[in-house]
Amino acid sequence: MTPLAELARSARIVVCCGSGGVGKTSTAAAVALWAAEHGRRTCVLTIDPARRLAQALGLDLLSNSPRPVKAKGLPARGPGSLDAMMLDMRRTFDEVIERYARDADQADRILANRFYQRLSSTLAGTQEYMAMEKLYELHESQRYDLLVVDTPPTRSALDFLDAPDNLNELLDARAFRLLIAPAQRIGRGYLRGLNLATTAMTKMVRRVTGSELLAEVGEFFAAFEGMYDGFKERAGLVYDQLKHPSTAFVVVATPDGAALREAAYFAGRLAADRMPLGALVVNRIHQAGPVPPVPAAARKRLRADGADGRLLADLLELHDGLETLAAAEQRRVRDLLDRVPNLGVVQVPLLSDDVHDVAGLRRLGAHLFA
Ligand SMILES: Nc1ncnc2c1ncn2[C@@H]1O[C@H](COP(=O)(O)OP(=O)(O)O)[C@@H](O)[C@H]1O
Ligand SMILES: [Mg+2]
Repeated sequence: MTPLAELARSARIVVCCGSGGVGKTSTAAAVALWAAEHGRRTCVLTIDPARRLAQALGLDLLSNSPRPVKAKGLPARGPGSLDAMMLDMRRTFDEVIERYARDADQADRILANRFYQRLSSTLAGTQEYMAMEKLYELHESQRYDLLVVDTPPTRSALDFLDAPDNLNELLDARAFRLLIAPAQRIGRGYLRGLNLATTAMTKMVRRVTGSELLAEVGEFFAAFEGMYDGFKERAGLVYDQLKHPSTAFVVVATPDGAALREAAYFAGRLAADRMPLGALVVNRIHQAGPVPPVPAAARKRLRADGADGRLLADLLELHDGLETLAAAEQRRVRDLLDRVPNLGVVQVPLLSDDVHDVAGLRRLGAHLFA
């Protein structure tokens, strides 16, 4: 059993992270499928998967709540089951406001606010934050044995961990009041004249608002009054859950230098935050396969030996290149393991086809769990 199989059998939350395009979404879906097929009630919370994979899982953005995945070979009736949902950050934000507002009136005021509408759909980090809110909600519901979380296609894996703190800082009305109160009194020139560009808050306000929205900003924070503490508290609870030994972070990387460096960096950050690093998946590994050594003289003879010989000589050269590439990749993986001791590693080869349906997830799973 690979370290990943161990996790898929026993963890309560698996978070797949890594830099963009490395295979987080595919890995998350494959882990969830495997766990479901091994008897666990599983939900994968995925973010922005490729269209064909979303279709194969029966996902659409409009639902924003878990739906059973219907696919050939999945257990029709218990004990395991697979649900999937695709995060719609705007909808999730709206739901959070509706759920935690004092009353319908407070919710309506916030939802109708134009500054809120911009914030909830465009602000960097909102997606990560909402993934955590959704994770919290699903975890609280106790409907699942295992929640598998895909992380947003951000540039950096670290953004996921930093998002709640960053957003909380932005939503902290106390800080905001200091900033905005004089603006409301003095007028619009104030923000422009204020030299606070270094604070996250002013940067956001500048980015998210035109001056015509400034009044709405003040109204938003007035309406938001009392909700901030709840946001902060839930973020704290999710952090606690992420630190719990029943959670496992799975870092996904490709065997190129940049992705592996990012993976090492992320592993260091998890360790510093005392968050449980479960395994490293090195995805899309090149494999050369065994070919007996062919001496230079024999290759020369091949080249001189008609079209078939030339083809064979060309293939040998391609194979040499592939071998060099595969060896370099293995060296880089070993270097990483030297730096992060005791890390379980699963290597997955580059498959000949995209991972876009349940059959593809099973092919991926064969390597992740074999
Ligand atoms: N082992 C693999 N072999 C071939 N293609 C893969 C493999 N793993 C992932 N892919 C493909 O790579 C692309 C990126 O994968 P994805 O899971 O969406 O990455 P991420 O979520 O990290 O951005 C997708 O088209 C996926 O089908
Ligand atoms: Mg993805």
